[in-house]
Amino acid sequence: MNLETIKTPSLIVDFQKMKRNAEWATARAKELNVDLRPHVKTHRSLEIARLQTAGNFGGIMVSTLAEAHFFAAGGFTDITYGVPIERGKFAEAIAVARKIERFAVLSDDAATVRELNEAAKRENARISVFLKTDVGYHRCGVEPGTPEAHEIPRLIADASHLDFAGILTHAGHSYHANTPEKLLAVAHEEHDKMRGLAEALRAEGIAVPTVSIGSTPTFSAIDSLAGVTEFRCGNYIFFDAFQATLGSCSFADCALTVLAAVIHRDPHRRRLVVDAGAVALSKDRGAVEFDPACGYGRVLDTDGTDLNLRIGSLSQEHGEIDVADRETFDRLKVGDRVRVLANHSCLTALQHSHYHVLDGDRIVDRWEINRGW
Ligand SMILES: Cc1ncc(COP(=O)(O)O)c(C=O)c1O
Repeated sequence: MNLETIKTPSLIVDFQKMKRNAEWATARAKELNVDLRPHVKTHRSLEIARLQTAGNFGGIMVSTLAEAHFFAAGGFTDITYGVPIERGKFAEAIAVARKIERFAVLSDDAATVRELNEAAKRENARISVFLKTDVGYHRCGVEPGTPEAHEIPRLIADASHLDFAGILTHAGHSYHANTPEKLLAVAHEEHDKMRGLAEALRAEGIAVPTVSIGSTPTFSAIDSLAGVTEFRCGNYIFFDAFQATLGSCSFADCALTVLAAVIHRDPHRRRLVVDAGAVALSKDRGAVEFDPACGYGRVLDTDGTDLNLRIGSLSQEHGEIDVADRETFDRLKVGDRVRVLANHSCLTALQHSHYHVLDGDRIVDRWEINRGW
């Protein structure tokens, strides 16, 4: 099978590019002397998780308990669930914790920590808990310097059926840094605040086994990680147009595209319509803050050459492309195929049920994507 013969729209992962991205991250983690814990929510695929943990310690982060079960069943034994836990998920979290060597959850809420300890006690189980820490993203977490940043670790460390795993943050505000200097400042802030909090907790007699930080933009920018033990990033495995616009990678590193066919051609408006709409691409605008014309994805030809076109608007199954250049318009006929480079690969991947694995010009495999919560 090849890109001319498979059905459209189809999710295509370029194996060699993905492998290079995995090797880049493994080498970078070694250079920075941290354990690499890939966030597998980007792809939710066993094969990709195996590729990116090869040469690393084997731990992964997931974003749903469905993924936790899926990856545990696939042989992964060290998993962190990356969204703060709440009581509705205790029973399932304890069930996963019983199955594997180490399962950790996150919390920034003292009452939840108490309730989780009671639930673990009733079930005669133990579970590891990280303090979810906020270093500037202001999505979840407690900020270093607040009383909670000290009280919650103490509560976890003293709980009869919990183990204090350490402190963990995600510098998601790195996605808004519009210059290399601002990105490096976010990376330094993430590093400094986490190192400072770990030192303060240790000074109070609380053991902090893991100091875990991470996002793909800060991973590409940071120069030193002394005091940090673990780095978690996810998007790097595919990268995407957003990361390339931010400078975390080049457009040539982007491994994920959606193969689409031209289904309509309007010579009067010089507009093409392809069969990849919002359901195949997602409606993520990606780097619209930095590139207002980014649309819903860059259009490449089947061999990956940028046609300098964007998906300008989307409906469920239709993607519309305005083509300024006459020669390009004349070249593309109904039935011709193009590849759309995703703005945000994590969201695009999860619109699909499987990857078509492209190696050179052949589709060599088909990998399942885990879905749901
Ligand atoms: C808690 C947590 N850790 C790590 C990551 C990985 O970030 P990235 O995909 O930028 O590498 C995310 C991404 O959303 C996250 O939510």
